[in-house]
Amino acid sequence: MNPSNLQIREFLPDDVTEILRLHRNFLDYFEEFEVSEEFILNISQRDDFKFFIATIDRKLIGFVGTLFYGSIGRAEIGPIAVDNRHKNNGVGTILMKHVLNFLKQQGIHRVIVRVKSMNNPGLNFFENLGFEEEGYFQNYTKKGEDVIQMVRFL
Ligand SMILES: CC(C)(COP(=O)(O)OP(=O)(O)OC[C@H]1O[C@@H](n2cnc3c(N)ncnc32)[C@H](O)[C@@H]1OP(=O)(O)O)[C@@H](O)C(=O)NCCC(=O)NCCS
Repeated sequence: MNPSNLQIREFLPDDVTEILRLHRNFLDYFEEFEVSEEFILNISQRDDFKFFIATIDRKLIGFVGTLFYGSIGRAEIGPIAVDNRHKNNGVGTILMKHVLNFLKQQGIHRVIVRVKSMNNPGLNFFENLGFEEEGYFQNYTKKGEDVIQMVRFL
């Protein structure tokens, strides 16, 4: 489904509070380091990082970030999150299609994402988007969790 009032747009500095709120809801799925407003604002200003924001009725309900290196053609997805109230409704897929399209335009041919091995919904989500497992990294996070690296070629 594609909610008719769903919009994907670029990041605005005012998005920081909502991004932090969503990020804190899903701490188990991300790396455990303290993400601050300053950190988000800093990465949003980098030339090699891009956030896309999903809104419904102008309210932020999801986001995706990507770190990309146009000169060498490689990129990494993350973080990505969709508000629990809007999950399983196609929003994450729309965000991903948008960011993959953006990356293709930047000359990126290889996109990776690292997902914790216990995050089955996350792994299925990327598999449905054409990502394939290419590496299993043991004891990868500070807490000692295993992480699966997935790849998709554009
Ligand atoms: C992973 C995540 C971003 C997916 O967002 P989402 O908006 O729920 O994604 P979608 O709705 O596009 O797809 C999710 C599933 O719903 C299904 N779906 C999509 N539209 C649907 C609809 N209208 N009705 C029923 N199911 C639907 C998809 O087929 C998909 O199935 P899958 O579980 O087999 O992959 C979200 O679950 C999330 O925020 N997770 C926590 C953070 C996280 O794990 N991030 C990734 C690790 S880096």
